[in-house]
Amino acid sequence: MSYFLLSRFLELLVILSFAHFSFSTQIQQTFDQCLSTIQVPDTFFTPNNPNFTTLLNSTAQNLRCLTPSYPKPQAIFTPLNEYDVQTAVICAKKLGIHLRFRSGGHDYEGISFTSAMDPPFVMIDMSKMRDVNVDLDDNSVWVEAGATVGELYYRVAEKSSTHGIAAGLCTSLGVGGHITGGAYGSMMRKYGLGVDNAIDAKIVNADGKIMDRVSMGEDVFWAISGGGGGSYGVILSWKLKLVPVPAIVTVFNVQKTLEQGATKILYRWQQLASNFDDDLFVRVIINPMDISGTTKRTISTTYNALFLGGVDRLLDIMNSSFPELGLKKTDCSEMSWLESVMFIAGYPTTVPTTFLLTGKPAFLNYFKAKSDFVKHPIPETGLEGIWKRLLKEEHPLMIWNPYGGMMGRISESSTPFPHRNGVLFKIQYVNIWSVPEKEAMKKHYKWIRKFYKYMGQYVSMDPREAYVNYRDLDLGMNDKNGDNTSFEKASSWGRRYYKDNFMRLVKAKTEFDPDNFFRHEQSIPVLPGKGF
Ligand SMILES: Cc1cc2nc3c(=O)[nH]c(=O)nc-3n(C[C@H](O)[C@H](O)[C@H](O)COP(=O)(O)OP(=O)(O)OC[C@H]3O[C@@H](n4cnc5c(N)ncnc54)[C@H](O)[C@@H]3O)c2cc1C
Ligand SMILES: *[C@@H]1O[C@H](CO)[C@@H](O)[C@H](O)[C@H]1NC(C)=O
Ligand SMILES: *[C@@H]1O[C@H](CO)[C@@H](O)[C@H](O)[C@H]1NC(C)=O
Ligand SMILES: *[C@@H]1O[C@H](CO)[C@@H](O)[C@H](O)[C@H]1NC(C)=O
Ligand SMILES: *[C@@H]1O[C@H](CO)[C@@H](O)[C@H](O)[C@H]1NC(C)=O
Repeated sequence: MSYFLLSRFLELLVILSFAHFSFSTQIQQTFDQCLSTIQVPDTFFTPNNPNFTTLLNSTAQNLRCLTPSYPKPQAIFTPLNEYDVQTAVICAKKLGIHLRFRSGGHDYEGISFTSAMDPPFVMIDMSKMRDVNVDLDDNSVWVEAGATVGELYYRVAEKSSTHGIAAGLCTSLGVGGHITGGAYGSMMRKYGLGVDNAIDAKIVNADGKIMDRVSMGEDVFWAISGGGGGSYGVILSWKLKLVPVPAIVTVFNVQKTLEQGATKILYRWQQLASNFDDDLFVRVIINPMDISGTTKRTISTTYNALFLGGVDRLLDIMNSSFPELGLKKTDCSEMSWLESVMFIAGYPTTVPTTFLLTGKPAFLNYFKAKSDFVKHPIPETGLEGIWKRLLKEEHPLMIWNPYGGMMGRISESSTPFPHRNGVLFKIQYVNIWSVPEKEAMKKHYKWIRKFYKYMGQYVSMDPREAYVNYRDLDLGMNDKNGDNTSFEKASSWGRRYYKDNFMRLVKAKTEFDPDNFFRHEQSIPVLPGKGF
């Protein structure tokens, strides 16, 4: 153990704690305690360490949240094991230091590595805790929070070509934040979400104790299974069920532009996609596109699909369920499930699946995103209104994700994720830009907020539902009703993310973390009058 690094850790804690406390005997004792417990050199980074920024940047997905106006951590701690996490929580709690937790860094608002509340703060980066233990006999896997889903998929496929995991499409998502917020992917219509397949979890609570499903209790286990990261404890690991996949699956991408009848085909897709065979997942990626050789733009709609079976059965199903797309055998490719993960994530076929072991992100830019759930098909005039608006912006993107199948057979209260029966599809809006300037951010925010307002007439209402893993700090900001207490504001986004499950989340929070130690801009609040 390096005594030198240890004392720097403690020095930093002193500096931070000065913001809140005078130096007291009690804190001195805490230091002694920290001194005797933390034994890990090269895990504590302050801004004067030349590697600090590299580490801070390493998994930050949204470059917007690295720009100067977003507060940076005073230090980053990279625990190597569960014991280190416990120590960090105990020390921080005793000293009144605010912590943020980052696993894969994909939070849309960057709240895992920035904080507009209670500065200064320390970021606990879980990226060194990424073990994956597949147990085929038990049909399950224990995976640590810092692993990416890509690594998880790779390790499962390495053991068996007929087992998979139901979770996200983007391969660099961190298990810690991703699963905890729900986790949908291309097998959701067959097997539901990541949390629908969660068996157990290990967390560190605000007292630094490690708890599993039995010791945290069913209410807390329910709450972390979709209630979102950063509210109840530090997720150390998840135990997930393996799901059966065929040795050969089929994928396709079929693009239709406006000139090729995109509007009518998409209108049909809305009516059909949630009733397709459970083995079939066909999402639609929508964006403006230049028409080559001209100065004109059109709208591109790409049908991006996974079928859990071979090409011949797929063609039969598509011919009877969605003939309007005109799918041909030459559009399709048969491959292993792991290869389909690469295809759906958008990697060219030249990238080997071992790339997943690097845990690297494939997508880095400045963006603002939002989500909606659609329960009635958007009429063709509505689609035309969408095209008009998309064509006016530089790099907007919409992803329409089909529901139905297993998603409709799981009750709204089975997990905190309530968007189930009756949802035809989810819309994800992303507005992307490529420069750090504030003016650019303002301009692109303005566009997406206006577009979201326009879409209000076509999507779920009362509440206008949203997906917590597509965190949106706009939600609740402009709601007119209610007073301005933080609880009222929280109820506003809380109802959108969780519908009637929100109060049950609040109750579990109030009992499990009454001091609100685990908090961020949209963490589950403690009942007013019950916390501090
Ligand atoms: C490019 C891209 C593609 C995506 N694709 C999908 C998709 O296919 N399906 C889907 O469902 N979602 C998708 N998402 C959303 C994604 O699920 C969420 O952003 C998710 O929260 C990311 O988890 P993370 O660990 O990578 O992020 P982080 O930024 O590390 O964390 C997210 C949140 O969880 C908290 N948290 C992180 N680690 C822990 C921990 N160990 N203990 C407690 N709290 C923790 C953080 O404080 C933060 O509040 C996508 C996001 C991006 C940027
Ligand atoms: C920074 O990282 C490099 C490469 O990983 C390492 O060799 C170096 O010792 C690190 N510097 C400090 C001050 O930790
Ligand atoms: C980290 O990201 C910021 C913002 O994008 C950038 O200015 C800086 O050069 C990056 N630093 C490193 C070391 O990657
Ligand atoms: C599609 O189905 C129709 C009948 O519904 C049939 O006549 C036609 O041959 C089928 N086409 C293919 C390619 O299977
Ligand atoms: C809440 O805040 C807004 C803007 O800050 C203000 O216009 C409004 O009057 C406030 N509402 C109440 C009930 O205090």
